[in-house]
Amino acid sequence: NKSIKLQNYNDMVYDTTYELKRDRLLIDETAILGHGHFGVVLKGVVKDLRSEARINVAVKTLKTKVDVGSLKALLSELKILASIGKHSNIVNLVGACTKKMGKGEVYVCVEYCANGNLQNFLRQHRQTFRNQLENDVLVIETPIRKLSSSSENIMTIDLIKWAWETAKGMEFLGSKKVIHGDLATRNILLTADHVAKVSDFGLSRQLVDYYYVQKETGPMPWKWMALESLRDMKFSVQSDIWSFGVTLWELFTLAEIPYSGCCWSAEFVETLAEGHRLGKPKFATSEMYDLMRECWKGDFSSRPSFFAIRMFFEDILTQCT
Ligand code: ADE
Repeated sequence: NKSIKLQNYNDMVYDTTYELKRDRLLIDETAILGHGHFGVVLKGVVKDLRSEARINVAVKTLKTKVDVGSLKALLSELKILASIGKHSNIVNLVGACTKKMGKGEVYVCVEYCANGNLQNFLRQHRQTFRNQLENDVLVIETPIRKLSSSSENIMTIDLIKWAWETAKGMEFLGSKKVIHGDLATRNILLTADHVAKVSDFGLSRQLVDYYYVQKETGPMPWKWMALESLRDMKFSVQSDIWSFGVTLWELFTLAEIPYSGCCWSAEFVETLAEGHRLGKPKFATSEMYDLMRECWKGDFSSRPSFFAIRMFFEDILTQCT
C-alpha cells in the first residue's frame, strides 16, 4: 500500500522562535496585497527587537468568519515554512502571531515582494518586451543585469533568469520533501530587485512517503495539474515538475492563459491522456519547449528532476555571461 503518510500538521512542531509579540507587528489594514487561500494578505511592518529596523512583510490573515479548514491550512503553511529553513528563492517566513487564537487573530508574516506576482508583472510588461530569439537562437548582447526599475523593458534573458530562480526554489522544496501543489506564475513573487521567489504553500504538503493522495476536494488548479493528479489525486515532486512545465509555458508566453477557452471536463483529462499538450510558446526556443514536453510526460518517473531543470537554465545563463 503506497498511499500517503502525510506529516500531520498537528504532529509537526511549530518553531516558536518565530513567534512575534503582537505589538511588534504593524498592519496596514488598507493595503490589501492579495487574496490568499484563506483570507486577505495585507501589508505590514515588523520591528526588529535589537536593531529597531523595520522589515516590510506580507501578513496572511484569516477570513473574519474563521472556518476550521482555513485555519488548518494557514497553520500547516506556517509549520512547513518554520521547519524547512530559509532559501533565497522562496518567500521566507519572518514571524507569526499564533497566541491568543481565541479571537481568530492568527497572522503569518512572510517577506514582502515589492513587484508582486509574476503573472501580473509579465502581463504589465508585454508591450515593451524585447525578444532576444533569432531563428530559434538566443542572441544576448546585454549580459544578465539587474532591472533598475519596474518600468524598464524586460527581455528573454529575464525570463530565463526567473525560470532558473524558480527551479532553485523548487529544488530546495523538493530536498525538504515539500510538494508545492499549486506552482504557477500567480504564485511566484518578485522582490524589489526582481528576484523570483516561490510562494503560497497553502496547498503544500510535507511528504513522509513517496506521494500523497488528496482527500478533500476544493477548487483545483486543473490546468497546472499533472495527469496522475487529475485522474487519481496523486501528488508528488514529479507532479510539481508538470506544474513547473506549465509555469515555464506561462513565462515564455508572457502569461497567456493555458488551454485558453478550455473548460474543466472529463474530456480535458482524456485529451491529455491521448498525448495532447500545450503548444510551443512564442518566446521559447525549441530546446526549452522540449524541456516543457519532458515535464509533461505521462509516465511521471520519466520527467526531469528540478536539479536537471535548474542546470538546463544555469547552462544557458553561464553561456550568456
Ligand atoms: N501578495 C501576496 N503575498 C505577497 C508578498 N509576500 N509580497 C507582496 N505581495 C504579496
